[in-house]
Amino acid sequence: MKSYIELIPKAELHLHIEGTLEPELAFRFAERNGIKLPYASVDALREAYNFKNLQEFLDLYHACSQVLVQEQDFYDLTWEYLKKLHEQNVCHVEIFYDSQSHTDRGLAFETVTNGIHRALVDGEKEFGISSYLILCFLRHLSEEAAMATLDQAVQHKDKIHGIGLASSEIGHPPSKFERAFDRVRAEGWHIVAHAGEEGPKEYIWEAIDLLKVERIDHGNRSMDDPELLKLLVERQIPLTLCPISNLELCVINDIADHPVKKMLDMGIMATIHSDDPAYFKGSLVDNYSRTAKALDLSKADIYRLAQNSFKASFLPEARKMELLEELATQYQPRADKTC
Ligand code: HPA
Ligand code: ZN
Repeated sequence: MKSYIELIPKAELHLHIEGTLEPELAFRFAERNGIKLPYASVDALREAYNFKNLQEFLDLYHACSQVLVQEQDFYDLTWEYLKKLHEQNVCHVEIFYDSQSHTDRGLAFETVTNGIHRALVDGEKEFGISSYLILCFLRHLSEEAAMATLDQAVQHKDKIHGIGLASSEIGHPPSKFERAFDRVRAEGWHIVAHAGEEGPKEYIWEAIDLLKVERIDHGNRSMDDPELLKLLVERQIPLTLCPISNLELCVINDIADHPVKKMLDMGIMATIHSDDPAYFKGSLVDNYSRTAKALDLSKADIYRLAQNSFKASFLPEARKMELLEELATQYQPRADKTC
């Protein structure tokens, strides 16, 4: 029997498409493109998916991304992931991608963007999964590089719904990209940023005050600052939390230490997501399930997380209402049962 977590409709809002590259797929693309991976086998690569911090993960993540070369590779990667979303009853997804990681090694911006976008269009037709694409600036690169990426992105406004900020956090504060995000805002894009994953609470303040983000990706370090928590509650600024990612990157030592339950109880618009499911060995359902078990979440908590995933999305209000209604009529918990 499928669990409540599997059955409820939900949205995935914090997902890097390059982070869905399973070792089997990495080898398939490497062979297709005549690239030699520095691992002898699928199992050897899987064993390397073991990290002490964000940077160790990012080094492997960017290295493996190099097997993606043709538009069809980006299509296939996205398509394989959409099939998994369908099995988990995910009905809306907002997908991050790192165009700079690919254009910097000579691929055309269009090869990357069109491949992912074409799969998203097919995913909506085949599975009814709605989707938005969010381009993330790589924060370890310069603001000039982000500006040049924007020049490319404005040519594809029909495909790109928002702009985010990802990659190595410490030493690369949101303030480094203030002017780039002024331009993003002038273009009318939605704005999100990773902040307070490994970096300090001050980066969350900067993301809100300087970049004027609509959501914070991660935001764990907000727990260090009562003023910031108060602001997050007052403005209902969503935090897209990723418990298994936090565990795998040693942001926390145990899922039982994750702040999501405390955040929900404070009235924060907290949501749960998978970040890089292939590398962290945890789907969206796994993230909900392991967190529910470790923190003894009730059905009402899970229901709230699914509600929040729609509320925090960039879907039009009418569609949000429809999805919330569907969730309520079929899955509103009667008693405060645990999962
Ligand atoms: N943090 C920052 N950048 C990233 C991550 C993450 O967890 N995953 C992929 N890019
Ligand atoms: Zn992320």
